[in-house]
Amino acid sequence: MSFNTFGHLFRFTSFGESHGAAIGCVVDGCPPRIPLEAADIQAHLDKRRPGQSRFTTQRQEPDAVKIMSGVFTDETTGKQVTTGTPIMLLIENVDQRSKDYSDIKDKYRPGHAGYTYDVKYGITDYRGGGRASARETAARVAAGAVARKIVPGLTVRGALIQMGPHKIDRARWDWNEIGNNPFFCPDAKQAKFFEAYLDGVRKAGSSCGAVIEIVAEGVPAGLGAPVYAKLDGDLAGALMGINAVKGVEIGDGFLTAAMSGEDNADEMRMGNEGKPVFLSNHAGGILGGISSGQAVVARFAVKPTSSILTPRKTVDRYGRDTEIVTKGRHDPCVGIRAVPIGEAMVACVLADHFLMQRGQMGEGTAWPFKPGA
Ligand SMILES: Cc1cc2nc3c(=O)[nH]c(=O)nc-3n(C[C@H](O)[C@H](O)[C@H](O)COP(=O)(O)O)c2cc1C
Repeated sequence: MSFNTFGHLFRFTSFGESHGAAIGCVVDGCPPRIPLEAADIQAHLDKRRPGQSRFTTQRQEPDAVKIMSGVFTDETTGKQVTTGTPIMLLIENVDQRSKDYSDIKDKYRPGHAGYTYDVKYGITDYRGGGRASARETAARVAAGAVARKIVPGLTVRGALIQMGPHKIDRARWDWNEIGNNPFFCPDAKQAKFFEAYLDGVRKAGSSCGAVIEIVAEGVPAGLGAPVYAKLDGDLAGALMGINAVKGVEIGDGFLTAAMSGEDNADEMRMGNEGKPVFLSNHAGGILGGISSGQAVVARFAVKPTSSILTPRKTVDRYGRDTEIVTKGRHDPCVGIRAVPIGEAMVACVLADHFLMQRGQMGEGTAWPFKPGA
């Protein structure tokens, strides 16, 4: 009952702790002959890497990935490709500072996982949160980089759309802005505001939450299954499985509860390419648990970091009331680095469902059908 493995046909098993020697994953089920270089994975890891601005933890981890297995040179192209065997991806931890945790080793951080790990296992690696650390999410991003290569024409992009109570103005959404600020924010004006806001939060020794939106384009229609493997259900599980995520929405999500049937209906018209065109996308690209061919849109809420300098009431491992102040290096808003992690989890779910769809349906159906056929 260990549950360190994600996925079905495209699956990865992650390993490692915050202050252990290394973290990483073994990706199994990746089809053979897909070009794969460490640089393809590194590009995504570099987005999640800590210590790149004053707005994330100052832990300095290069997160340099090594492909330890599962690739070989294709003689016809001279390129490194996958072989269809397990791909082990290894990332060494180089900047652990375990002494930062000695003051709080017996105390539980309210909102962190120490108490539940102790209750469940009777032992917890308190250094940097151990297995509950976001170091583990580097493995997800690495696996996600492989997953992105499996679905032809797939693009998965993420953006931070709310920090604390402050939302972006969606009218100013510009994907090109994502790389121009330290927040993956598509609204340049609001990104400036976030700088001042998060500086205030950080200097107060506090933390704040965020909302992230992931948009997957080029998702073929037909991914997902009608009942126990709904695409939206699997996406929700995958995103909810990221540390600190407390809510997931697909499409218009909770807003749909207040809509009328007319407003919520994504009306259809026949397009020029033999495919329907939807006149809106309240459903987030998924109908009946199956992708419709529209963009798949998911949103998730990330809670504020639990490691804060403000004293909080807690108990220790020996059942005594006490207080805790968490020093050391922490993300004041974990939602920032959650953007590439969310992208990776969506890519993994889509790759998994793409392979399952291909396994069950081969080339798929010949929609639209001929009347009377
Ligand atoms: C990218 C990222 C960075 C994080 N950094 C921190 C951190 O610096 N300090 C902290 O206390 N929690 C951090 N967290 C959150 C904890 O990992 C998380 O709260 C903890 O594992 C408990 O799990 P839960 O919040 O899902 O219940 C981070 C989460 C993510 C996704």
